[in-house]
Amino acid sequence: PPPDAAVNLADIEKLAKTVLTKTAWAYYRSAGDDEYTYRENIASFGRFWFRPRVLNKVSQISMETTLFGGIASSIPVYVSPSAMARLGHPDGEMEITRACAKEGVIQGVSANASCSLDEIMGAKAEGQELIYQLYMNRSRQRSREIIEAVDKMGFKGIMLTVDAPVPGKRERDIRAQGEDFQGPSEGKAEGKGVAQSISGYQDPDVNWADIAWIKGITKLPLYIKGIQCVEDAEKAYEHGVDGVIISNHGGRQLDFAPGAMTVLYDLHQRRPDLMQKMDVYIDGGIRRGTDVLKALCLGAKGVGLGRPVLYGNGCWGEPGVRRVFQIMREEIATTMRLLGVTRLEDLRPEIIRYVDRDPV
Ligand code: FNR
Repeated sequence: PPPDAAVNLADIEKLAKTVLTKTAWAYYRSAGDDEYTYRENIASFGRFWFRPRVLNKVSQISMETTLFGGIASSIPVYVSPSAMARLGHPDGEMEITRACAKEGVIQGVSANASCSLDEIMGAKAEGQELIYQLYMNRSRQRSREIIEAVDKMGFKGIMLTVDAPVPGKRERDIRAQGEDFQGPSEGKAEGKGVAQSISGYQDPDVNWADIAWIKGITKLPLYIKGIQCVEDAEKAYEHGVDGVIISNHGGRQLDFAPGAMTVLYDLHQRRPDLMQKMDVYIDGGIRRGTDVLKALCLGAKGVGLGRPVLYGNGCWGEPGVRRVFQIMREEIATTMRLLGVTRLEDLRPEIIRYVDRDPV
């Protein structure tokens, strides 16, 4: 079917399952242990319901915003950096880059991208901006070289991912055993799964002192990705970062880590002041326009999509990634109108309420 046949992101996921290789599907879809956090990400959005306002003249609405230090974005949604786009499409991350240019969306590029940074920057349109996601290397010298290189290449910010000192135990990925996988540098995954085979360089000793170290190397805005409690959001702020990304890696790391929306709610309840002082983003389980607007009601500046982008890319390449963002754009527009909101700034906590049960 053509991309337009997909009515929602679930349609794209269903199709991806049938067209991706066994290894790619297992790696993309996998999550930690029994996948409670994977499901809880989605469930945590289900516990917020709207309090819509009516009779508000909603023909004219604006969904545009700026994310990551003033970069224009057509919707408050960005590509959360995810590894190995070439497992789904031969042009991998470059297809995502091209789609982002056309949809006016910001791409986070994974440290474990399967295309080289030169290839990705070569695919970029004029004026298009990208963010680089960093994993701290066991060799700080190597990390220094990477930071200097991405700064020089024109990336507009760095996301340091901190929820993966070691990879979580992802059983779908391990069982698929990388049978049809050719890694960028290490060849066959040898029964460990894709995640294990690409993450060996990542330093489990990455720690808070590394924040100052990175800030000593580059003036690029720095975001910490993988904050999972209020205390660490406070610590991140004290360390002078430009923002945090509330994330549990799409449930791929610690099982029973809280749902992303639960952490955002805690932060909003306990430290609303912090959310004025630094940008807060969120990813994990966002599949609907309503999810996006709920997060914005609680003060998130933008939300990231992980798997849906890889699935769209795996089904159709660039047009599939574009379809993902078109669906989100249409759903956000409809939801804003039905909520009686015409500007993103008008999304306030009063527009939602927490309900202590899962929707039927
Ligand atoms: C990821 N994610 C991720 N995050 C990161 O910081 N660096 C990375 O290399 C990767 N790689 C990666 C691969 C795959 C296959 C997936 C699915 C995810 C996590 C990603 O950025 C994001 O946090 C989650 O995917 C968000 O959850 P959803 O949207 O997939 O539910």
